[in-house]
Amino acid sequence: MPLFNVYPLYDVTPVKAKGVYVYDENKTEYLDLYGGHAVISIGHAHPKYVEAITKQVSKLGFYSNAIQNPLQKKLADKIESLSGCEDYELFLCNSGAEANENALKLASFKTDKSRVIAFTNGFHGRTSAAVAATDNKNIIAPINAQQKVTILDLNDIDSVKTELEKGDVCAVIVEFIQGVGGLDQATANFFEQVDKLCKANNTLFIADEVQSGYGRSGKFFAFQHYNVTPDIISIAKGMGNGFPIGGILIHPNIEAKFGMLGTTFGGNHLACAAGLSVLNAIEEQNLIENVNEISEYFIKIARTIPQIKNIKGKGLMLGLEFDFEVGDLRKKLIYDYHIFTGGAANKKLLRILPPLTVKKDHINQFFEALIDALNH
Ligand SMILES: Cc1ncc(COP(=O)(O)O)c(C=O)c1O
Repeated sequence: MPLFNVYPLYDVTPVKAKGVYVYDENKTEYLDLYGGHAVISIGHAHPKYVEAITKQVSKLGFYSNAIQNPLQKKLADKIESLSGCEDYELFLCNSGAEANENALKLASFKTDKSRVIAFTNGFHGRTSAAVAATDNKNIIAPINAQQKVTILDLNDIDSVKTELEKGDVCAVIVEFIQGVGGLDQATANFFEQVDKLCKANNTLFIADEVQSGYGRSGKFFAFQHYNVTPDIISIAKGMGNGFPIGGILIHPNIEAKFGMLGTTFGGNHLACAAGLSVLNAIEEQNLIENVNEISEYFIKIARTIPQIKNIKGKGLMLGLEFDFEVGDLRKKLIYDYHIFTGGAANKKLLRILPPLTVKKDHINQFFEALIDALNH
């Protein structure tokens, strides 16, 4: 049976990975500065992660959400202690889109309203309300277009105010650092004003931390670079280091009711074991400190390369902007230098999303290759 052909693929077949390296079937080693799309947080095949998952699956991999599962509470407590987001409640699901879908649904339940404000170039996933809030007409099917979503430009606070004062907006959803769109960030003043306007207009403020969360921005959450209090925080990607797990942190001003949200697989034992071992590694290995140290080192070198016109993002969620499209450069980096990097909707941007364990030597390896590639 052929596969439904929706992904343009590079001609590389990874069969093994360890730390920041991926290996193909010919044992060729690739430096992974893409992290499988910002998913690999604590490094490939982290020994404690492998051990935690192996032990858990040999005991109990899955049972439904109809029974007591103390691992969920353990995971919630660990997220609270590492993120400093006290008082939130946790709902677990399986992916970033599902996290945002549940966040938008809760906002609508809570406010009894249904219009969503989202932003130009934003990406929130491919399911019903999440894709409708995504600024990419090519991935919105007619069935999704029935959702009421207004897309505004980042930093256009006057329009946010005008729309919220109409009284029908249940949620404003935002990436504090845009991922797929190309690492744009609004100003601190904009984010802080949006937060205030939401609170004044009975609208929930949703921080989409699916990509920027779990330390990638240099703080546990990217919104923590600002003085804001989101009502809902959506998480996924780095949360499971490759194990499919997502979730939302929900402010206690939103009251849970039985049946309001639900999922078969979300929060299963195996996912919780994976999620807990990721948080333990982030804590024990001081990975957020490493993110800041390596980010500074990376940016310092990037500034010395004349072909790089702009450096975008924060932490290890970075983009190098050139004055040409980078498709061929990415191919060259993969095939000639064996380095994975990411692309974006902005075709001139090379994205850097390595495991949070990356070291200076890996950054040196990348820049040596980049300089060589740019000059040949
Ligand atoms: C900011 C953001 N939100 C949501 C998603 C969707 O996550 P998933 O692909 O796990 O559904 C992504 C995926 O790239 C993302 O970057």
